[in-house]
Amino acid sequence: MVIADQTGTPLTLNMTDEHEALVQAVRNFAQKEIIPIAEAYDESGEFPLDTVKKMGEMGLMGIEVPEEYGGAGMDTLAYVLTMVEIAKADVSHSTILSVNNSLYCHGLMKFGTEEQKQKYITPIATGEKIGAYSLTEPMSGSDAATMASRAVLNEAGTHYIINGTKSWVTSGPVADHLVLFTMTDPDKGNRGITAFLIDADQPGFVRGKKEPKLGIRASATSEIRFEDYACPVENVLGKVGDGFKIAMTVLDAGRIGIAAQALGVAEAAYAASLDYARTRQAFGGPIGQFQMIQQKIADMKTQLEAARLMVYNAVMAKGRAAQTGGRYTTEASMAKLFASEAAMYITDEAVQIHGGMGYSKEMPVERYYRDARITRIYEGTSEVQRMVIARNELGLR
Ligand code: CAA
Repeated sequence: MVIADQTGTPLTLNMTDEHEALVQAVRNFAQKEIIPIAEAYDESGEFPLDTVKKMGEMGLMGIEVPEEYGGAGMDTLAYVLTMVEIAKADVSHSTILSVNNSLYCHGLMKFGTEEQKQKYITPIATGEKIGAYSLTEPMSGSDAATMASRAVLNEAGTHYIINGTKSWVTSGPVADHLVLFTMTDPDKGNRGITAFLIDADQPGFVRGKKEPKLGIRASATSEIRFEDYACPVENVLGKVGDGFKIAMTVLDAGRIGIAAQALGVAEAAYAASLDYARTRQAFGGPIGQFQMIQQKIADMKTQLEAARLMVYNAVMAKGRAAQTGGRYTTEASMAKLFASEAAMYITDEAVQIHGGMGYSKEMPVERYYRDARITRIYEGTSEVQRMVIARNELGLR
């Protein structure tokens, strides 16, 4: 039977031998290289540069980037499967991976010139350098179009002089290059925003304080200040004034990655709970024999598999959109909304099943619970996803 969407278009997902080999390779890597260090890096908050480099050597830092630009030349399904496997081991590593892959490389591949791709994708897709995406400001989070930072063209018309503060920049403390969104024409509102490619080693690029965070502590996050930063006009990404649409288009892809990340951490929490329910003894037997634990297991499993289907649905929608030139905004937002809420539910129940041990740093479920929380916030809160879905469904803006 072939299932179709509401337009009658068949829904298919082509899981190949190549995808299966990738999953196996990433799973082996995560078990050998990431799981043993995840707890220590969570504790120290140090950026895991060595394992990030190794992920780069495996081609994981630019999975959908064509091989000619240093990437793995695979598809969105490969990206999602990788995100799940890495997030199962450690959400911080998957956050670093997602920023490089979707927030940075996806936008450059879609909107960059050939020269920009040659210069700014290859070192990031190979993992030699780190990329970041900078939209949010201290007073501009969910309402992303209301930014205070400014880029003003100099008299010679050669450079934009950028001033302002960006906040919550994932990988900000270590990034070599950024895709930056800032206002070039404040009178035009969201149509006055432009995207720029930024070199972090240039004067006027100032890294601000590193955020002390509840979870994903090994993924470094900071403010970035621009103080008369001179950005050459050839570093405008896309057209002047198209920045907001570029930012939103990139977030559509990014939100599928965060949905996959949520699925990964939920899977890890579920597996740990199953194991604990089978082995932990109380009242004369394993706790899994009690209906209250069984109800949790049943509901967790159901949420988990529903989230997986939402993620796959978004992958299929993105594939369709690539063929038709349409958008997959609603499917990406639904996947992120559902999977992140499911991850929070599942990690919370995982702590509950583990009881006191779930609250202890001796068990990884404590970290899963803290790490899962961000998936309901970054790349658009659950409230923003609901706004996007409802507006699209109702035909509103
Ligand atoms: N694709 C293409 N174009 C899009 C689009 C999309 N997904 N969404 C909106 N647009 C276009 C609209 O069509 C409209 O175009 P026109 O002006 O030509 O008609 C334009 O963009 C403005 O759209 P809206 O009127 O809908 O914009 P809005 O100001 O009402 O905002 C919003 C909409 C959905 C709330 C948006 O501001 C948003 O997504 N906010 C959340 C931002 C966010 O996710 N931030 C996280 C940043 S990344 C991060 O978390 C840190 C990190 O490093 C990981």
